[in-house]
Amino acid sequence: MAIPTIHVGCKVFGRSRLQALIECGGLDPVACVDVDVEGARESVRSLGGSAAEMLAGRVYPTITEALRRHSAEVCLIYASTQAHAALVVESLGLGLHTLCVKPIAVTQDEMRRVAAAHAERPGLLLVQGQNKRWNPAAAKMREWLREPHGIGEMLGGECRFWVRLDLRTEGRFDALTEGLFFHAAASHQLDQLVAAKGLPDYVTAKTHLDGDEEIGQIGVMGTAGGQALMEYANGAVFCYTGTRAGHLNEPFAGWSGHWEIHGKRGDVRRDAGRLRLYRKGRCVENLSLQDIHTDMVADEVIQLDAFARAIGTGEGRDWLHNSTLATWVLMEACNESARTGARVDVKAMHADLLEG
Ligand SMILES: NC(=O)c1ccc[n+]([C@@H]2O[C@H](COP(=O)([O-])OP(=O)(O)OC[C@H]3O[C@@H](n4cnc5c(N)ncnc54)[C@H](O)[C@@H]3O)[C@@H](O)[C@H]2O)c1
Repeated sequence: MAIPTIHVGCKVFGRSRLQALIECGGLDPVACVDVDVEGARESVRSLGGSAAEMLAGRVYPTITEALRRHSAEVCLIYASTQAHAALVVESLGLGLHTLCVKPIAVTQDEMRRVAAAHAERPGLLLVQGQNKRWNPAAAKMREWLREPHGIGEMLGGECRFWVRLDLRTEGRFDALTEGLFFHAAASHQLDQLVAAKGLPDYVTAKTHLDGDEEIGQIGVMGTAGGQALMEYANGAVFCYTGTRAGHLNEPFAGWSGHWEIHGKRGDVRRDAGRLRLYRKGRCVENLSLQDIHTDMVADEVIQLDAFARAIGTGEGRDWLHNSTLATWVLMEACNESARTGARVDVKAMHADLLEG
């Protein structure tokens, strides 16, 4: 049976996420939350259909208020980034399984508060929402990185991506807040790496301070682009280069990037939805799969159904919780390295932030 769910953040990005909640089978929307109640009602109603009409009449200013009126077991958070950590703490405190779109927190102090709230309620599933690990192309790459019929032990690899994102109109908070390149942009790609291979032991990262007023880059540390070199326990090194100052990803649209990953038994090459698996000098699989879907609603439906299954049956529960929070730690380790110039011990940071 679908799990009763409260949806937080109803305009802009949250509006299309609510459409995904309505479409998914595992969760059942029972109420909405937004600080702008009137604006949210209008936004929800504009989705059309009977479920949206019902929800437009059930918009409340806080999660606490929504839960007073409607019983629920799950809370999904798509509100403004700066509100995430406090909303997650409120949601967990109310006893709700919680999924919050990345970044779940903006600073290490916020992450400590989130981890402390979860430690009080360890039976609740807490997940950082990610869009890009769910599409068929990402799922196939993960399969080749993890399963015995893939590349075997990872020996090294790289990922590159670029996107021209106008931070004046599409992410003002991201333009003004230190470290939001890794947390809000690089996490789209590196979450896929963490989902498949877990955390590296060490990371060394740099960001550039280039300014470009035309696309809202005003020289704040860690907002425009960055590089990272990740060292895994077996000696494998993974390199990442990403920038928001580039250009459209065409013909490989969708923030997914270009990947080359080498393993003991084979190599993967991926350009967004185009994937090839090589073994002993030959291409043994050559696939064109759906990468990120237009407006990402279909990807979100896959994610929400996986979240519902993890709560209902336990399937993938530890992987979802551990790997999505580990992605946050890796992104913060990149920021720490870029700030200090040091090679950062990622596992030590994970223990410090998430294991008390
Ligand atoms: N994963 C992706 O690809 C992707 C893409 C775009 C945005 N996002 C993320 O989604 C989130 C929302 O983005 P947006 O552009 O819609 O942001 P936004 O700032 O426009 O806010 C969205 C909604 O949150 C509401 N809100 C703000 N504070 C609130 C609070 N304390 N309680 C309840 N509601 C509150 C606002 O009224 C608004 O309706 C951001 O964190 C952003 O980083 C993710």
